[in-house]
Amino acid sequence: MDKDPLILKGKGVYKSFGGLQALADVQFEVHAGEIFAVIGPNGAGKTTLFNVISGVDRDFIGEVVFDTQPISHLPSHVISRRGMARTFQNVRLFKNLSVLENVMVGCHGWASPGYVRTVFRLKRSRKEERTIKEHAAGMLKFVGLEGRAEEDVESLPLGEQKLLEMARALAAKPRLLLLDEPGAGLNDAEMEMLKSIIFKIRDQKITQLIVEHNMKLIMSVSDEIMVLNFGTKIAEGKPSDIVRDEKVIEVYLGKEKGFA
Ligand SMILES: Nc1ncnc2c1ncn2[C@@H]1O[C@H](COP(=O)(O)OP(=O)(O)O)[C@@H](O)[C@H]1O
Ligand SMILES: [Mg+2]
Repeated sequence: MDKDPLILKGKGVYKSFGGLQALADVQFEVHAGEIFAVIGPNGAGKTTLFNVISGVDRDFIGEVVFDTQPISHLPSHVISRRGMARTFQNVRLFKNLSVLENVMVGCHGWASPGYVRTVFRLKRSRKEERTIKEHAAGMLKFVGLEGRAEEDVESLPLGEQKLLEMARALAAKPRLLLLDEPGAGLNDAEMEMLKSIIFKIRDQKITQLIVEHNMKLIMSVSDEIMVLNFGTKIAEGKPSDIVRDEKVIEVYLGKEKGFA
């Protein structure tokens, strides 16, 4: 069967921080609908790559194409309006807003201009407010946080804050979702929940790029895995190929991690 068309492509991506080469000649092709994992030891360049793709870091060399449009060096809000959303390795939530309000913020890409900015201060269209609240509540339910809507963000444990960030990213109705270590801080039950959420997102035809250290999760959800080490791609393939790849085994066993 032919693969779906490309939704994301990177070519010759280089990024340095002073003398440190964080990414060196990285290329990748992600097909629409795919779950594409990026793995590698700490410091491999995974978050840097997400920052480059999402426009959080615009100071890099190389080309990134989203759908058929070049997006290299565009600001992140422009890229997000084109249908890309992400979460952060270190969660970035608004601590002064409730759980539900944080998800409502994610709706700003499709709600009428300025609406979300003023939603907490001015009386606007009741209908629009209801639409946004219902959509946000639906996203909370999607990640299993429906009972938490009115709580303070800080009262949530880290695992639930990560799920909340996913709900906020999904509220933007993206076609491409980047998840940076969604499993960090999750307990076993939440990890199972995360796995089913990832599959539910795929069922909605949203393409996912996932950076994650939990190999059990990565091996069971990914269609394709790219492995970075010191900013360089050392392997790419299906999970069954990656577990057998000598370079990958060396990198992981060298750090006494392995794939167990
Ligand atoms: N803002 C920054 N300034 C300087 N060095 C950075 C910065 N961000 C990342 N790095 C360095 O770039 C490399 C890649 O980091 P990162 O992309 O965060 O790795 P990963 O997400 O794979 O753990 C690391 O050596 C890290 O120390
Ligand atoms: Mg990282």
